[in-house]
Amino acid sequence: GAPIQIGLLGCGTVGGGVLRLLAENSGYLAERAGVPLVVKRVVVRDLEKERVAALDRDLLTTNPEEVVDDPTIDVVVEVMGGETPARALIERAIDRGKGVVTANKLLLAAHGPALLARASARQVDLAFEGAVGGGIPIIRTLRDAFASDWVERVTAILNGTCNYILTRMRDTGASFDAALREAQTLGYAEADPSLDVDGHDAAHKLIVLAMLAFGAQVDSADVHTSGIRSIEEADHRYADRFGYTIKHLAIGRDLGDSIELRVHPTLIPKESVLANVSGVLNAVLLEGRAVGPSLVYGRGAGDLPTAVSVVSDILDVARSIASGVAGMQGRGMSIKPRAVRPLG
Ligand code: NDP
Ligand code: HSE
Repeated sequence: GAPIQIGLLGCGTVGGGVLRLLAENSGYLAERAGVPLVVKRVVVRDLEKERVAALDRDLLTTNPEEVVDDPTIDVVVEVMGGETPARALIERAIDRGKGVVTANKLLLAAHGPALLARASARQVDLAFEGAVGGGIPIIRTLRDAFASDWVERVTAILNGTCNYILTRMRDTGASFDAALREAQTLGYAEADPSLDVDGHDAAHKLIVLAMLAFGAQVDSADVHTSGIRSIEEADHRYADRFGYTIKHLAIGRDLGDSIELRVHPTLIPKESVLANVSGVLNAVLLEGRAVGPSLVYGRGAGDLPTAVSVVSDILDVARSIASGVAGMQGRGMSIKPRAVRPLG
């Protein structure tokens, strides 16, 4: 069949990983998609910056219209981050009938339900496995594997940067600032790292999970959110002495008539499953009414782990387009505003 043409919005940590995987795995990706996957254009701000070797620099442009308005581009991959211009570009791509893949949890937390409804009305796919938990398959788990169950509780470590900083402070006595710098160098942190350390990134991810787990449309103002800036080395020592470890947790509960959503540092017993999730690893412990507890665990940030999720989404969207069944992913998804119980 005709190749699927991809337009990439952004070529930083995640975009660079996506280009590497597409290049390194091109043979079997083409087999699995049934058609070759070809990158046609790559949008950045700075044309001079050094980038991954897998990038053909002739594809670079600073004009996103060369992606979203190009009728030969089938799939738009948004890995630039932020709300502006990402939101308008995704909307335009959907309106032009293109499949969209994004890793942008900030955008999905604010506009996920509207974007999904838009994609569904236009019968195109909007895929976002990379937006939560980096390389761990939590979106598919909730959307597909547990579609037949009723998820009652989600307890998760959702920010790789926070978990990395807490782990380094606890295990090596590193300072908060030094550990944050390491997380930035490793490509884990957001362009604005206060999103990580003040808890907002985990809150955005929890909102995306609540959308799938509880069918809830939630305003971020309704999520009790606190970060890890106030935690000091002494806190780790005291926690350790009493048999605990400090983890930055995101917790969601379906209480029937309402839901509860909160993000904050928590003391948890050292022998518990989540206490042993260290460094950049993330984990989501789901509790389903029928299935019981289930754990998804793996690398929650960084170029290649996140690229695995993004490229698998590209593969899914490409397969749907190639077989003429685009727009099936969001089928039957019901997302409604639900009351959020304040913490008291
Ligand atoms: P980076 O800052 O490394 O990369 C962003 C890229 O987008 C850069 O190439 C930048 O161009 C480009 N870009 C940003 N704004 C514009 C604009 N207005 N016009 C044109 N190009 C633009 O970010 P990441 O790769 O780390 O993150 C990308 C997205 O993926 C974000 O939504 C993030 O939250 C999400 N994410 C990140 C993960 C990670 O581990 N880093 C994991 C999971 C999701 P230039 O290079 O020229 O500056
Ligand atoms: N900044 C995010 C984190 C990237 O540290 O978890 C993955 O979404």
